[in-house]
Amino acid sequence: MPLAQAPEVTEFLTGLDLGTLRQDEISAFRGRNDTWAGVTSAGIPVFVKRVGGEPSTVRPRVDRIKAMGELLDTHPVIHAPQLLGGDVESGLVAFALLEHAQSGADLGGDGFTWELAHSAGFQVGTLHTLPAPRAVAEDTSEPPLPPLKALVALPLEAYAVASGAELEAWAILHNDPVVVEAIGRLAAWERDSTHVLVHGDLRLDQFLYHHDTLHLVDWEEARRADAARDVGAFVGEWLYRGVLGMAGHEETAGEREVVANGARRFETLRPNIEAFWSGYLAARPAARADRELAARAAAFAGWHMFDRLLAAGYERARLTPLERAAAGVGRKVLISPADFTATLGLGG
Ligand SMILES: Nc1ncnc2c1ncn2[C@@H]1O[C@H](COP(=O)(O)OP(=O)(O)O)[C@@H](O)[C@H]1O
Ligand SMILES: [Mg+2]
Repeated sequence: MPLAQAPEVTEFLTGLDLGTLRQDEISAFRGRNDTWAGVTSAGIPVFVKRVGGEPSTVRPRVDRIKAMGELLDTHPVIHAPQLLGGDVESGLVAFALLEHAQSGADLGGDGFTWELAHSAGFQVGTLHTLPAPRAVAEDTSEPPLPPLKALVALPLEAYAVASGAELEAWAILHNDPVVVEAIGRLAAWERDSTHVLVHGDLRLDQFLYHHDTLHLVDWEEARRADAARDVGAFVGEWLYRGVLGMAGHEETAGEREVVANGARRFETLRPNIEAFWSGYLAARPAARADRELAARAAAFAGWHMFDRLLAAGYERARLTPLERAAAGVGRKVLISPADFTATLGLGG
């Protein structure tokens, strides 16, 4: 969104004594929310985002971002961009801009070295040992995903604005009572687990590689929840890439072949999960006592396939056969997660 249409951004930055951004010098990033980034008139590299979405959720999300920013600004192990300010009224938050950073999604299978994946696991494991800041500890709202209500039926407003591909993804879920039940079981499993401070939206594009260091951004879903949420999301990211990254023949391959090719491709990505998991356990040895953590993480990875499918469908007419195959893989893992922990790199 052009700055001229968002005068509150200039007001916000000026109020924080950060100077102002000039329209011809800003860049925006892909994401759910409006963002503005650049070096201000005061010479400060800033990243501004407007926390959007359902109005009643803006305040708690900005509160979570601020609380996590304050916590992590002083933390030596977890690298997050410095929080410069946040405003619950406008929903604007500002961070130090990591200039020319590469996201974990850009790095992909080749760029994500063992060290980086280990560092990702070490940072997430450390996070899970930290006491939740007050705003997060007091927040008892349910994480928005998995969307337990929408698994049964999509609200009319959501139906009306959904793309064709999104409706296809919902139809896969709505026509599969076994998967819906497995997701319900996962929610109950999470409720009974030990809750820790989690990131809550741990995708590869939330990691930024900058000055030889991996940073973690986008803390608006931080909560006290099951550690398996974060571990499973990281696993699910690679699993999804495994299924989607395979070459050719997708139009003619049968489902069996699609899954087999995806499995082969996933083999080459699994070291990223093994490195993550070893970093995770090094930072949080107590996780070993949580005997079902790996299985719950596998289940969350299974759910993540559907989460990615719904996101991939945004503004598209049809799902591709590969995307449908990802749902098939997610289904298998969701239904018997304990059988897949070793395959997914969560052994040991
Ligand atoms: N401090 C930062 N410096 C540089 N780039 C950033 C910074 N924070 C976020 N980004 C980039 O902008 C994208 C969107 O920001 P994010 O906080 O994840 O918002 P969204 O809620 O829209 O996903 C990120 O995926 C990342 O690529
Ligand atoms: Mg993000």
